[in-house]
Amino acid sequence: MIIGVPKEIKNNESRVGMTPAGIFELIKNGHTVYVQSGAGEGSGFFNSDYQKAGATILDTIGQVYAISEMIVKVKEPIEEEYHLVQEGQIVFTYFHFASSETLTRAMIKQKGVCIAYETVEDEDGSLPLLTPMSEVAGRMAIQQGAKYLEKPKKGRGVLLGGVPGVAPGKVLVLGAGTVGIQAAKMAAGLGAHVTIMDVNMKRLRYVNDVMPPHVVTEFSNEFNIRKHIKTHDLIIGGVLLKGAKAPNLITRDMLKDMHPGAVIVDVAVDQGGCVETTKATTHEDPIYIIDDVVHYCVANMPGAVPYTSTVALTNVTLPYVLKLANNGWQSACQNDASLEKGLNIVEGKVVYKEIAETFDLGTPALV
Ligand SMILES: NC(=O)c1ccc[n+]([C@@H]2O[C@H](COP(=O)([O-])OP(=O)(O)OC[C@H]3O[C@@H](n4cnc5c(N)ncnc54)[C@H](O)[C@@H]3O)[C@@H](O)[C@H]2O)c1
Repeated sequence: MIIGVPKEIKNNESRVGMTPAGIFELIKNGHTVYVQSGAGEGSGFFNSDYQKAGATILDTIGQVYAISEMIVKVKEPIEEEYHLVQEGQIVFTYFHFASSETLTRAMIKQKGVCIAYETVEDEDGSLPLLTPMSEVAGRMAIQQGAKYLEKPKKGRGVLLGGVPGVAPGKVLVLGAGTVGIQAAKMAAGLGAHVTIMDVNMKRLRYVNDVMPPHVVTEFSNEFNIRKHIKTHDLIIGGVLLKGAKAPNLITRDMLKDMHPGAVIVDVAVDQGGCVETTKATTHEDPIYIIDDVVHYCVANMPGAVPYTSTVALTNVTLPYVLKLANNGWQSACQNDASLEKGLNIVEGKVVYKEIAETFDLGTPALV
């Protein structure tokens, strides 16, 4: 198959759809890969790295789309890219169709085969192509939180690990899912005292089994949250209710009970956040302060560490890219139920129920 890797042109997106290591595997399997010049630079991969792995470099995005049977990228196509998608061409990327009717209608019109990373789903309901970004964001949440706890960054001036003779900082993690566990692990590694809360006892049992004794589990309810926010320095929001807005576990009135200069990193901001006062911020202007509490609410945290995020993402997408390239999309999807769930729009027809319902597009077509 001929595979193309364009440069991402969405604002502030430095990730790229394939690393040289992925391209090496595709070439080994007999495929041909074209990479747009400069596509990997934001992630630290240069044209020469791709050439060494066996790819051919093309100058423009138009050339990459025109020659490829499958496009592998990161973000959904933006308006300038819509017209580049060709009939029958596979586009494998994050689409998030439900949040854009314009994109949905454009991809129906272009008649491509749109396979969305975010809806590839394993038997147990987990989303393997979203997990690595939660892992990145969870770990990064502590790094950011520790930074904004510093006085010059408007925090209360607490060192998370403490020092001999001074108690460590206290971190409260809401949600013991992917984000929460990674955050707890990083905070524990720094020596902070960690409280992690969830409503799912299985998750709490697991955390209790695998974490060191200075990570304490507690059931998540309003009473316990009100108690803990009074004493904790850093709060991480990592709650998710699948397909719904995150619940407001910390309400505006609760902020006054927190230490002045305490920090909230609400990772769940992309689902509306689990703090009432959360509003999305950017890497250029990541924080704001309400009632003396620093809020960090960047909606695309992994974007700040494109090298790690690109490698983490492509580690999990590559097996699917290989299946699609080796077998074609029909056979690859027939033989892999997880990948089949990634099919969203196929040659002009919406095949994913939730998208058809969201935009009143009738009964989804059968593939
Ligand atoms: N800001 C970013 O850049 C970024 C990056 C990656 C993920 N995220 C977001 O982070 C959020 C968490 O993602 P995840 O992969 O960890 O999800 P997950 O499904 O692995 O974990 C969510 C956890 O929240 C728990 N939960 C639900 N209700 C709760 C409650 N009332 N109290 C405490 N816990 C509760 C669930 O039981 C689950 O264990 C999602 O909204 C995700 O989209 C944001």
